[in-house]
Amino acid sequence: MGSLRGRDYISVVDLSPEELTTVLELSRDFKRRFYGGERVIPVLQGKTLMLIFQKPSTRTRVSFEVAMKQLGGFTVTANWTELQLGRGETVADTARTLSRYVDGMAARVYRHSDLVELAQYATVPVINALSDLEHPVQALADFLTIWEKKGRIAGVNIAFLGDGADNVAHSLILMAASLGANIRVGTAKGYEPLPRILELAEERARRSGASIDVVYTVEEAVRGADVVYTDVWVSMGQEAEAERRVRDLSPFRVTSEVMRLAKPDAIFMHCLPAKRGYEVVDEVIDGPWSVVWDQAENRLHTQKALLALLL
Ligand code: CP
Ligand code: NVA
Repeated sequence: MGSLRGRDYISVVDLSPEELTTVLELSRDFKRRFYGGERVIPVLQGKTLMLIFQKPSTRTRVSFEVAMKQLGGFTVTANWTELQLGRGETVADTARTLSRYVDGMAARVYRHSDLVELAQYATVPVINALSDLEHPVQALADFLTIWEKKGRIAGVNIAFLGDGADNVAHSLILMAASLGANIRVGTAKGYEPLPRILELAEERARRSGASIDVVYTVEEAVRGADVVYTDVWVSMGQEAEAERRVRDLSPFRVTSEVMRLAKPDAIFMHCLPAKRGYEVVDEVIDGPWSVVWDQAENRLHTQKALLALLL
C-alpha cells in the first residue's frame, strides 16, 4: 500500500479496503490519544482546508473545522452561493483558483458530478462532505463505531431500513462490502440502491466475502442483525417528493418492536439529523440500543485521521 497523501475521497471505493482499514486504525489511535489528553496533534501545522457547503450541515461542518484545528491547521468555510460559484463561475475555475490557496477541500453538493469535476481540476485532495450519491466520511465514522461496539467488522450483520438509494446507505453498502460486513437493505419497491453502487459493492464483496441483499420487508432485513441503521426518508433536496416518500417508506420505521426482531445485543445507528417520529421513534433513538451520539462523535476522530493521511 502506497501513501495516501494527495489522494481524493469522493467515494468509499476511492480507497482500497486496506487503505480504509488504515484510516480506521489511525482514527482509533487519534481517539485514544485524545482521551489520553492530547487534544492537539499538530501533524498539519500551517495547512488549510477549504470547506464548501451547498446544503446545511451541523456535524460535518463543525467536526471538520474542529478536526483541522486539533491537527494544528486552519479552515475556511463558505457557502456555495456566497462564492462566485453562485454567480456562475465554473467548478473547474474555482478548483484551479482554490488549489493555489489551500491544501485540501471538502465540499457538500447537490450533484455528485460537481465533486468529480472539482477533484478533476483541483491539484489538492478533494473530500466528499455529502452529495446526492454518497456520504463517504459518514461511513468511516459508522464503521469505527461498529468496530468499537461489536469488537470486529468482518462478519457483522447490518440492516439498513428506509430509502435504499440514500447517500448514506450507498456509502454504508460500499464500506460493508469493502470490509467484509454483511448488509441487508430493507426498502420499498422503487427505492433500491442504485445499480452502479450494487455493482461496485459486489466487486468488493467478491474479495471480502461480504453479502449484500435488498429485501422488501422489515422482518427479512432485521432478523439476526447486529446493527439496525436508518436515515431520513426525505433527504436534502427531495422536499418536493416528501409526501410520496413518507407514504412509501412508512413501513420501514424503526420502533422498539423492530429492534426486538434483531439480535438481543443489537445496536441502533443513525447518521443524524433524525426526523423523530418518522424513520425512528424516540423510544429507540433515546433507548438502550442507540449509539448515535458515539457515532456522531466519531465523525471528529475519523476525519482527523483522513485529513492527516490525505493532506
Ligand atoms: N451526518 C451529517 O452529515 O450531519 P450534518 O448534515 O449535520 O453534517
Ligand atoms: N440523507 C441525508 C443525510 C444527511 C446527513 C440527506 O442527504 O439529507
